[in-house]
Amino acid sequence: MGDRLKGKVAVVTGGASGIGEATARLFVAEGASVVIADVQADAGEALAAELGQASFVHVDITSEAAVAGAVDHAVKRFGRLDCMINNAGFIGAIGSIRTIEAEAWRATMAALLDGVFFGVKHAARVLVEQGGGGSILTTTSIAGLRGGFGAHAYTTAKHAVIGLTRSAAAELAPHRIRVNAVAPGNVISPLSLALVGGDEEAMDRMAAEASPMKLAMYPPETAEAFAYLASDGARQVTGQVLVVDAGLTMAPEIPFFHTAEPGFIGPPLRGPGS
Ligand SMILES: NC(=O)c1ccc[n+]([C@@H]2O[C@H](COP(=O)([O-])OP(=O)(O)OC[C@H]3O[C@@H](n4cnc5c(N)ncnc54)[C@H](O)[C@@H]3O)[C@@H](O)[C@H]2O)c1
Repeated sequence: MGDRLKGKVAVVTGGASGIGEATARLFVAEGASVVIADVQADAGEALAAELGQASFVHVDITSEAAVAGAVDHAVKRFGRLDCMINNAGFIGAIGSIRTIEAEAWRATMAALLDGVFFGVKHAARVLVEQGGGGSILTTTSIAGLRGGFGAHAYTTAKHAVIGLTRSAAAELAPHRIRVNAVAPGNVISPLSLALVGGDEEAMDRMAAEASPMKLAMYPPETAEAFAYLASDGARQVTGQVLVVDAGLTMAPEIPFFHTAEPGFIGPPLRGPGS
C-alpha cells in the first residue's frame, strides 16, 4: 500500500477488533511491524497470522505487568519500539449517576484509564532508554470532549485520557517522544454495534444522521489518524487531540445564520467610506 511507517514497530492494544484491528492492518500495509495486544486470543492470533509482519500477545490492560510485557515483547520480537497505541476499551458502567455501583465504576476506570496509563508509562520507559524519539497514542472519544456523548464512567475516563496525553507530552517532549490522542465520533464497530443489537444498517443510519456531513464512520478512517500521528510527517505534533467525527462536535446542526436570507444584524450599514 505505502511506506509511511516503513521499519517502525508498533504495539496496538485492543488490536484484535474494530479500530485496533483496522489500525494493525493499516500499519502493516504501511510497512510497520505490529504487536497485537488483546484479551481475544483467537481473533488476535488469526489476525497476526493473516498480516504476517505481526505478533499476538494475550494482554489484559488492567494488569501493569501484562502491558509492560507487551512492550518488551515488541522489542524482543522486532528489535525496537516506535509507537504504542493505547486503544483497548469497552463501554463499562452505564445507568444513572445515582445508581452506578462502585465496582462497575472501578472496573471501567481500571481498563479505560489505568490501562492507558500503564501503556504510556511502559512505552515511555522503553522509548527514553532507546533514544531517538517515538510516538505514544491514546484513544479517547468525542465523549472525552464534553458531557452527554457517553456513559458517566466512560465520559470521565475519556476526559482523563486527554489530560494524561497532554501531561505526558509535556514531560516527554525533550526526548522527542510525541504523545497524542485520537477522538473518534460514532464508529461502527463491535463496541457500538452492541448498543443496537448488532444491527449495522441501523447504526450506519444513526451515525450518518448525527453528523453534519451525513457520513457514517468505519474503523479504517480512524486508523488513518493513528497512521498520521505515528508517522514522521507528524514530528511537530504533540499533546494534541485529533477529532475524527465528520464534524459532529464542530457543528452538530446548521445554524440559523447560514440559512437566513442574506442580511446584516447590527447598526444600519453606511456603505464604504461614508
Ligand atoms: N466505536 C466507537 O464508536 C468509538 C468511539 C470513540 C472511541 N472509541 C474507543 O475506541 C477504542 C476501540 O473501540 P472499538 O470501537 O474498536 O471496540 P471493539 O470492541 O471493536 O474493540 C475493542 C478491543 O479491545 C479489547 N479489550 C477490551 N478490554 C480489554 C482489556 N482489558 N485488555 C485488553 N484488551 C481489551 C477487546 O477485546 C477488543 O478487541 C476504545 O477505547 C473505545 O472506547 C470507540
